[in-house]
Amino acid sequence: MIELAPSILSADFARLAEEVRAAGEGGGSVIHVDIMDGHFVPNLTIGPPVVKSLRKATELPLDCHLMIENPDEFIPAFAEVGADWISVHYEACRHLNRTLHLIKSHDCRAGVVINPATPVDALTEVLDIVDYVLVMSVNPGFGGQKFIPSTLHKMRRLAEIRRERGLQYRIEVDGGISLNTVAEVVQAGAEILVAGNAVFGSGDPRKNAQALLKAATEAALQRV
Ligand code: DX5
Ligand code: ZN
Repeated sequence: MIELAPSILSADFARLAEEVRAAGEGGGSVIHVDIMDGHFVPNLTIGPPVVKSLRKATELPLDCHLMIENPDEFIPAFAEVGADWISVHYEACRHLNRTLHLIKSHDCRAGVVINPATPVDALTEVLDIVDYVLVMSVNPGFGGQKFIPSTLHKMRRLAEIRRERGLQYRIEVDGGISLNTVAEVVQAGAEILVAGNAVFGSGDPRKNAQALLKAATEAALQRV
């Protein structure tokens, strides 16, 4: 099943509740929340208090993408304020297995994220314990960047490994998803599509979300 996860990074932070509502009305079914610490990535965003407010503003699952060093220190705080899904970067975790179990111990879905330069092979030992794998299709840190096509083969490979090993994880993609790129990522196997700029950058987030979801669903039909 294809899902659209609007990323609030490109939303108007002074009107967050409204923006999230609009994206949901357009068919967004997961709200993607980018958490940045100014160390792991060269940008700063938000922390648990904003997630707490978002929790009151929507019933959609909150997908917290942690682009931070030492994620173990903050996972309990995000879980406590209402994160439903929490993903951590392979590149930021010294004890990835422990960190993923920590997420699960808080009853959240656990995801692992790989940067464009990290191969799928690096995840071999954790694919059986994650609920989703997030393939970054830009270098994390900013919205509105250009999609990196060399990441597509990783979505294909993840779909293949899932079949071969009989696993259950879902495949998410994040970065540069727009009407121009959505069909190819879906055809490569992505099922959860994060989109920031394409939803909130300009125009009506409802219509933007609808158009993206329509293009994605059409591409998925061609896949089978
Ligand atoms: C980038 C973030 C993304 C970002 C995507 O570091 O992880 O979630 O919001 O933005 P777009 O869709 O504009 O590339
Ligand atoms: Zn993200």
